[in-house]
This record gives sequence, structure tokens and C-alpha cells, in this order.
Amino acid sequence: MLEYNLVIFGSGGVGKSCLTMQFVRNVFMEKYDPTIEDVYRKTIEVDEKQYSLEILDTAGTEGFSAMRDLYVKSGHGFCLVYSVTSQATFNDLTEFKERINRVKDTSMNIPLILVGNKTDLVDERVVAKETGQLLAQKWGCTFLETSAKARANVNEVTEEDLFATIKH
Ligand code: GTP
Ligand code: MG
Repeated sequence: MLEYNLVIFGSGGVGKSCLTMQFVRNVFMEKYDPTIEDVYRKTIEVDEKQYSLEILDTAGTEGFSAMRDLYVKSGHGFCLVYSVTSQATFNDLTEFKERINRVKDTSMNIPLILVGNKTDLVDERVVAKETGQLLAQKWGCTFLETSAKARANVNEVTEEDLFATIKH
């Protein structure tokens, strides 16, 4: 079976673990329990090929440590998550992206997906959809808005868009 390592990055509390849990187990966790490091596995099928997908759910609050560089090295694809209710979490992603590019040290296109989460919090939104779209255009990557809570677009995060990037 083909192996694919997906690494989830993003600031603390943006919903990385909730998105992962929704995708892997179909549940939503209301209570906030900061992650240290969690690994999940799921078998998926893309173009009639079976993939063993390993999802690495990282800690948002961790600094740019040697550990993060190891995560980057092991990752085939990356999911960068921000919350549409926080401009700071959106701004933080540039540093993640630069780090990935530096550690991977490649001119090749790194499979990446930009995710704006918590769209159910309509009244608290501060990052417009267009802002996310513009950044994704700049990076040449896929962009999605999701709600882990309402389970909007969660399956598409990996199955359609991410794997569209694998095939390239
Ligand atoms: P760290 O592990 O600390 O990096 O945080 P995280 O990015 O994994 O965030 P987590 O998934 O633990 O979610 C943080 C909080 O936001 C929890 O209380 C979740 O219930 C809540 N949350 C996550 N996704 C959503 C969403 O789509 N909508 C709403 N309303 N709340 C969400
Ligand atoms: Mg977490």
C-alpha cells in the first residue's frame, strides 16, 4: 500500500484536532484540549489506489523547534489551518509556509492546502473568504473554508483537494 504523510500545522486553538477527528472518527469535540502530538491512520482510496494515510496533528503552541523540522521532513503534504475568527492565526501561516519551504529545500511544488476553519461562527468572522483565496493564489495551493463543528467540507479537505495534489 502507498503511504502518505499529512502534517497539520496552524496556531493554537484553530481547530486542527477537531478537523482531524471529524475526518478520522466523525465526531466533534467541544472541549478544548491542547494537543502535544497525535498520529492518526486512515486507509483511503484515490484513483483506485489504496493509500495508508497518516495524519500528524501537531501542537499549535509549540515554537519553531527541531521537532517541527522533523515533522516537515516526514510530511508529504501539509494542511495549514487558521480560524476565520482570528486575523493573527491567518498571519501566522506565512511563517509555517516559509519554514516548510526552507526545510524541504526544494523548488518543487510542495502539496499544500490552506484551510480557514470555524465558518459556523458567522458573527465572529474577521478574515474574509477572499483574503484566504488571495493567499492560496499566491502560494498556488488549494483553499477551503470549513467548519469542524458543522462538519462542512471536512471530507473534501483530504479526499478531493489534497489528493488532487498527490496525483501531480
Ligand atoms: P492546539 O492543539 O492547541 O494546537 O489546538 P487545535 O488547533 O487542535 O484546536 P482544537 O481542534 O482543539 O479546537 C480548539 C477549540 O475550538 C475547541 O474548543 C473546539 O471545540 C473549537 N472548534 C474547533 N473547530 C471549530 C469549528 O469549526 N467551529 C467552532 N465553533 N468551534 C470549533
Ligand atoms: Mg490540537
